Parts: sequence; C-alpha cells; structure tokens
Amino acid sequence: MKEYYYNKNVLITGGLGFIGSSLANRLVELGANVTIIDNMEPLYGGNYFNIREIESKLKVIIADVRNTSVIQPLIEKSHCIFHLAAQISYIDSLNIPFEDLDLNSRATLNLLELCRKYNPEVRILFSSSRMVYGKVEKPIVTENCDTNPLSLYGIHKLTSEKYLLMYYKDFGIPSTILRITNPYGPRQQIKHSKYSLVGWFIRQAMENKVIKIYGEGRQLRDYIFIDDIIEAMLRVGASADAVGEVLNVGSGISTKFADMVKLVLECVKSGDMEFISWPKDYEKVETGDIAVDISKLQEVTLWKPDHSLEDGINLTYQYYKKNIHHYI
Ligand SMILES: NC(=O)c1ccc[n+]([C@@H]2O[C@H](COP(=O)([O-])OP(=O)(O)OC[C@H]3O[C@@H](n4cnc5c(N)ncnc54)[C@H](O)[C@@H]3O)[C@@H](O)[C@H]2O)c1
Repeated sequence: MKEYYYNKNVLITGGLGFIGSSLANRLVELGANVTIIDNMEPLYGGNYFNIREIESKLKVIIADVRNTSVIQPLIEKSHCIFHLAAQISYIDSLNIPFEDLDLNSRATLNLLELCRKYNPEVRILFSSSRMVYGKVEKPIVTENCDTNPLSLYGIHKLTSEKYLLMYYKDFGIPSTILRITNPYGPRQQIKHSKYSLVGWFIRQAMENKVIKIYGEGRQLRDYIFIDDIIEAMLRVGASADAVGEVLNVGSGISTKFADMVKLVLECVKSGDMEFISWPKDYEKVETGDIAVDISKLQEVTLWKPDHSLEDGINLTYQYYKKNIHHYI
C-alpha cells in the first residue's frame, strides 16, 4: 500500500477538513503529490492549522468543488480523487434542502461527468455515511441491508452513491463508496455540535460544562478513530478488489452513547453530564441503535482498527489540550 501512493497525483476535495487533512498528512508522508480543493465555508471544519506541518509540500486551492473551471484541470491530472467535500449536518439538511442536494448529489455528478470526459481511469473514493441506512431493523448492518435514509443528507449521499455505481458500470470509472460511521479524533471541528459529537463533548468537558444527553443515552453508535479510518481509506484506494464496491467503515464495536460521554468525562477529568428529554421532532431523524458489519472491508484490505474508544478519546484530548485555541 505504501508504494502505491508514491509520486501519484492525489486530489482531496474538502481537504482542509477533519478527514481530508488527516488523509493529506499521511499521503504527503507516503510521497504522494497532494492537491486540496476546499472553500473554507465557515460552517464546516476547514482549518489551515490541520495542514501546518505539510503546508510547503502540497498544493491548496481555495475554491468551491462545484466550480467546473477550477476542478476540471485538477481532475485531468489526478490518479486518485478522495471526494469528501460535503454539507455534513443531517439536521441542517432539512433547513437548506437545495444546498444539500447541490453539494451532496449534484457536485458528485458534476465531478463524474468531468472524469468521464477528461480522465475516465481516475480512481475515486467517496465518503458516504451510515446515515444512508436510516432506522435499522437488523442487529448488524451489512452493506446489503435496505437503505431508507431519514434525512435529506442521507438521501443525497445515497444518490451520489448511485451515480458513482452507475458511472462505474456504464463508463468503467473506478470508484469505491465508504459508508463511514461516527468518526472522531484530532483535527475535527469543535466549533459547534451540528456533527462530530465526540470532539464537541471533549471541548465541553475541557470547559467544565455539563454535557446534555437526550433520553437515557442508550442508543448504540460505532465510533471510529481517525487514524483507523485513514489507514482503511488508503488501503481501499490501493485495492483493485475494492473497485465498484460499497464498504462499511467503522470500528466494528458499538458503544452506548452515554458510555462514550462517560469515557470523555473520565479522560478529561472535568465537566459533568445530565439526561434531558428528546427535543421535539428529533425522533423523526433518530436512527436508533446501529452496529455495522465491517467484515467486507477487512476481507478486501486485511485492515483492522487499532484504537479502542478509550485510547482514541485520550489521543484526541491530548491534541486539543495543546491546540484548542486553533479550533474555537
Ligand atoms: N464527520 C462525520 O460525522 C462524518 C460521518 C460520516 C461521513 N462523513 C463524511 O466525510 C466527509 C468529510 O467530513 P469531515 O468530518 O472531514 O468534515 P469537515 O467539515 O471537517 O470537512 C469538510 C470539508 O469540506 C469543505 N467543503 C464544504 N463544502 C465545500 C465546497 N462546496 N467546496 C469545497 N470544499 C467544501 C469544508 O470547508 C471542510 O473543510 C464528508 O463527505 C462527510 O459527509 C463525515
């Protein structure tokens, strides 16, 4: 895998954000020629500090991923594209339905059309989400389970998945879809609580605040540490067997929401937690318990996650202890 990226031209859309910049840091280390396109929209997690150590070793273009004249030449010279730029809040997606559609579906179609015309061999990895499953009836979710998203975010991500699979089938554009569970770790935005709650809770605990938990906090979630995600993504990108596939990317371990919060409080050693009632209408988008099957990803890549939730939270806390002023 390490050699695969050496001297390859890799484009990361949304590359100044949490997952994109973590990928960029690792890809630069592997000798890839990395280009980032990111529009630094303040709502999301784009942050120059995320790439401070590699700034001189990659190219950063501040532009919207939907800007065809900017992205076309970048696509033309890429060997590999990690398409991560998105509207990420599933709650917000209902307030900005057309922006969500435009960014989470149409932008992918635009990217694919450009690939079809100018570079049909380019390898694409797309960051989808567990939210495409919606409310899950089965105890363990495999990639073959039904997809009934509860949010526009989930619907639009699923639409992008279908574009990618169709463009692979009809035009041979080699892509892989990654259905990521609940990622957390250093470089994650902690400005607001609209997405990525582990980081947000670490911040609240550091500020000695009371973390509010809806209901009894018994819902199961699969939290995955960023280094594990990056290792998985890089292996998928280098694997011919992963082309045309949909893969769950999670730790394979489900944890009660309240237990995750307890781990945060134990680690940070300040803050508190309080149980409150679910906000009105929230149950409409609440997916319930989720436990994902990651065996397909493991078979294809021989990857396994390396970090327990406890270790990952501690690493994340250590990072913010040093760097929090760059993230708030
Ligand atoms: N964070 C999560 O909980 C989660 C879970 C599953 C999947 N994902 C997916 O992973 C991907 C990356 O998410 P993240 O957690 O790194 O979020 P992030 O907010 O840290 O990064 C997203 C980046 O995309 C950039 N961006 C947004 N709109 C853009 C546009 N129009 N043009 C160019 N750049 C744009 C932002 O500026 C930001 O830097 C997204 O596709 C997201 O849907 C995230």
